[in-house]
Amino acid sequence: MSKETLTIIDNRTGREYEFPLIDGNLRTADLRQIKIAPDDFGVMGYDPAFMNTASCRSQITLIDGDRGILRYRGYPIEELAEKCSFLEVAWLLLNGELPSDTQLSEWVDEITHHTMLHETTRKFLEGFRYDAHPMSMLMSTVAALSTVYKDARNIFDPQGRHRNIVRLIAKMPTMAAYAYRHSRGFPYVYPDNDLTYAENFMNMLWRMVEPKYVANPTLARAIDVLFILHADHEQNCSTNVMRSVGSSHADPFAAVAGAIGALSGPLHGGANEQVLKMLDEIGPKANVPAYIRKVKNGECKLMGFGHRVYKNYDPRARIIKQTADEVFEVTGRNPKLETALELERIALEDDYFVTRKLYPNVDFYSGLIYQAVGFQPEMFTVLFAIPRTVGWLAQWQEMLLDPETKIARPRQVYTGYPLRDVGSMEEPEAETVMA
Ligand SMILES: CC(C)(COP(=O)(O)OP(=O)(O)OC[C@H]1O[C@@H](n2cnc3c(N)ncnc32)[C@H](O)[C@@H]1OP(=O)(O)O)[C@@H](O)C(=O)NCCC(=O)NCCS
Repeated sequence: MSKETLTIIDNRTGREYEFPLIDGNLRTADLRQIKIAPDDFGVMGYDPAFMNTASCRSQITLIDGDRGILRYRGYPIEELAEKCSFLEVAWLLLNGELPSDTQLSEWVDEITHHTMLHETTRKFLEGFRYDAHPMSMLMSTVAALSTVYKDARNIFDPQGRHRNIVRLIAKMPTMAAYAYRHSRGFPYVYPDNDLTYAENFMNMLWRMVEPKYVANPTLARAIDVLFILHADHEQNCSTNVMRSVGSSHADPFAAVAGAIGALSGPLHGGANEQVLKMLDEIGPKANVPAYIRKVKNGECKLMGFGHRVYKNYDPRARIIKQTADEVFEVTGRNPKLETALELERIALEDDYFVTRKLYPNVDFYSGLIYQAVGFQPEMFTVLFAIPRTVGWLAQWQEMLLDPETKIARPRQVYTGYPLRDVGSMEEPEAETVMA
């Protein structure tokens, strides 16, 4: 009879331990029972980048990296991108089910009526230097919102929590658009409640002197689809920050600001900006083989390729490629597309990429679409942060309501000096330091 347990033999002592497997997994805390002496600390799991450590149990998003599958609450991403709006998907991620018609119209109404920023927040944004990066402005402004909404600290009050979730989702596009207008020196455009989430964002970004901005429906739908694709991605770097900051019971504005910081890095949300820089550096399609050689020599990385979890084609990249065709019908083809397609073609055939299972990820094509729609590269990560706020908040709420949650506090393996005293501070021999 098979048992849902794992037996470990400690070869130092010859002792045998049997641990339960929960959903097929070992609780690493159980390893602490493995000791060589009663006062020994016990064995820990050492996993610096969480390569094989689950930090929570979650019902929100499923990724099967080997098969290239992504699902929100059980629904395939392909179907959601085809049939739903971003706000519908936001409701799904937060509440576990797709909304009824009434729930959806109330939800859209609620979000629409929380898009305005307090005037002091607008003035706060005005204080940034003319050349401030919009992602840094967004991060700081989100953090500053906790000075405006003091009720945000009541994180265990369901109504208060809902109110601040709505505020964050509603105000992200407004802050993002203001950050952009600030960096261009344009006057801010207030939200327009007659418009959809994506259209309103476009209106706040691009309306100039016309009395009413009319968004191109194909481009507005493309932005909505991109928002759906970026809404959640289970325990990625920034979501881990969101849960980690939230585990100390900090308010959601502080936690989202932390998550935005994590997302801003080039190995995470900043990758699509890097893809465009890379495509600029490569230039015409004919230069692609030489660039691939540089990547294989370890001189640089192929940005927009590879993923910690996907070891197959990222399903979001496939949908984005399709969306790109629709966008380019309206805007004309982005000249960098030829180079990108050639990079993908060669990389997918090359042994270096095939053996390492490096496929295009979501960022490979998203930057090309964003650029064609009219966004500057420094806005790309901001465009990622807007929809990902929904995923962060869904994960944060799930974490708060999970009875197993405790403050996130990893252990370390100390590798520094043993005890020494200040009185004996002679220069140690080099070998001694290295030992
Ligand atoms: C996403 C990423 C950080 C995942 O990193 P990871 O899971 O730690 O994977 P590793 O860095 O261990 O990579 C495994 C191997 O593939 C190589 N590799 C990974 N991504 C690569 C890339 N984009 N270009 C070239 N080689 C790459 C590594 O050099 C390593 O090779 P080695 O075994 O010879 O040392 C990484 O693939 C990357 O930096 N990609 C580019 C940035 C990007 O597009 N980020 C967006 C993610 S959505």
